[in-house]
Amino acid sequence: MDSFFQALQPLPMFSIFFVSLLCIFTFSARSRRKLPYPPGPKGLPVIGNMLMMDQLTHRGLARLAKKYGGLLHLKMGGLHMVAVSTPDMAREVLQAQDNVFSNRPATIAISYLTYDRADMAFAHYGPFWRQMRKICVMKVFSRKRAESWTSVREEVDSLIRTVTANVGSFVNVGELVFALTKNITYRSAFGSMSDEGQDEFMKILQEFSKLFGAFNVADFIPWLGWIHGQGFNKRLASARGSLDGFIDKIIDDHMAKKKKSEKNCTDDSEVDTDMVDELLAFYSEDAAKSYSDGMQSAITITKDNIKALIMDVMFGGTETVASAIEWTMAELMKSREDMKKVQQELDDVVGLDRRVHESDLEKLTYLKCVVKEILRLHPPIPLLLHETAEESTVAGYKIPAKSRVMINAWAIGRDKTAWDEPETFKPSRFLKGGTPDFKGSNFEFIPFGSGSTVVPGNATRTLCIGANSGSPLPVFYLGVA
Ligand code: HEM
Repeated sequence: MDSFFQALQPLPMFSIFFVSLLCIFTFSARSRRKLPYPPGPKGLPVIGNMLMMDQLTHRGLARLAKKYGGLLHLKMGGLHMVAVSTPDMAREVLQAQDNVFSNRPATIAISYLTYDRADMAFAHYGPFWRQMRKICVMKVFSRKRAESWTSVREEVDSLIRTVTANVGSFVNVGELVFALTKNITYRSAFGSMSDEGQDEFMKILQEFSKLFGAFNVADFIPWLGWIHGQGFNKRLASARGSLDGFIDKIIDDHMAKKKKSEKNCTDDSEVDTDMVDELLAFYSEDAAKSYSDGMQSAITITKDNIKALIMDVMFGGTETVASAIEWTMAELMKSREDMKKVQQELDDVVGLDRRVHESDLEKLTYLKCVVKEILRLHPPIPLLLHETAEESTVAGYKIPAKSRVMINAWAIGRDKTAWDEPETFKPSRFLKGGTPDFKGSNFEFIPFGSGSTVVPGNATRTLCIGANSGSPLPVFYLGVA
């Protein structure tokens, strides 16, 4: 032993410090390498768990979570996937490690159709995404803009006319509500200049939607990409070509209108502007270059950014709101007691001789509880899709870089430890103080996501849901009462 200490004596202090640091580093690197992946079903060589592809839904993943826990690992070909199904795990990835877990995964099709992630929903977390988000929060989703949506009122009027004209016969509420949100979003994006092109645009959207969801083996096993071959790539090119043809013309018309009003020195600040007008204020063809040079000072965007952002809004704002309204009606039809409470509140606050206005929403407390309960039980986007920017550790498990992370908002909203009678439709639970809210800081309730990627524009989303689900309800009430 003595000789050991003697041997140490001549070592200068910094060498001891250096050797200790090296030991700590080697030990932590080794133990990190040895960390296991989160629990999950065993996969086959090469394809991993690809035979379980049909279970990657919110219900399928919730079933798997019962067996393997709130943090679950799957391997699809070469791709690591992690499912998060409990509030605690959601807090870990959306709050504690937000910067690692906030990237968005994009398939080959999504990357191509979003002009190589030129939008906000699929842009990676970083300076470009922050710029896009700033533009959207300032202009596209601002409270002022939400309140100026006269198109909302006109479209709701039109829906009411359709329903009242059909009293005594069947109407397909789902179709009507989807048409309502689609028309509102379309008009807010393009204004009234291009109403005629709606059918053409909807066909383009449908093809985009099919391509977004299409299975492409190259996303999981890149060297098998030839299986889908040229056919798939041709479909992608044709879909994006159609969108270019459609929106380029609209953008050109808007630019011509802007130039004309500048030339005539007309002040159109009073005119109801649409999303293309708002985005054109930031337009510059040099934007892409200045981003790649890292020289971005003022916020500028290209035509591709405008097109990709409009697609975000069309996809993000149409089916989500329609789904919430349809579920609201369905659940209220099943629960006579809650229906009566909503009717009574509408009678008290609004009365029977006029429609709901945005200014009434604050007072419609029970209706707002109903909407929250709908978003808890039936979140329109049940799985939030994220990607890890680098390797990380969660709950002692290794999560590799570029893993696809699926946060199961549906399962979390029904978590037994967080909610009393989680499977029951019970809007009154939100009347109690201390019940989780959906603003993003309560991880038991995340229908709009949380952290940096939460749906932009608090005001817009509340108004959209409120105005839309509030307005058709009195009609529904008159129809069935
Ligand atoms: C019931 C209504 C809605 C629900 C439940 C909903 C839900 C969501 C969810 C869950 C996300 C992903 C958050 C994450 O991954 O962390 C998201 C993102 C987004 N939503 Fe919504 N949404 C709704 C309405 C809207 C509307 C009306 C618009 C546009 C008009 C919109 C535009 C967007 C956009 C642009 C993003 C991407 C945000 C980003 O990446 O920074 N959403 N939404």
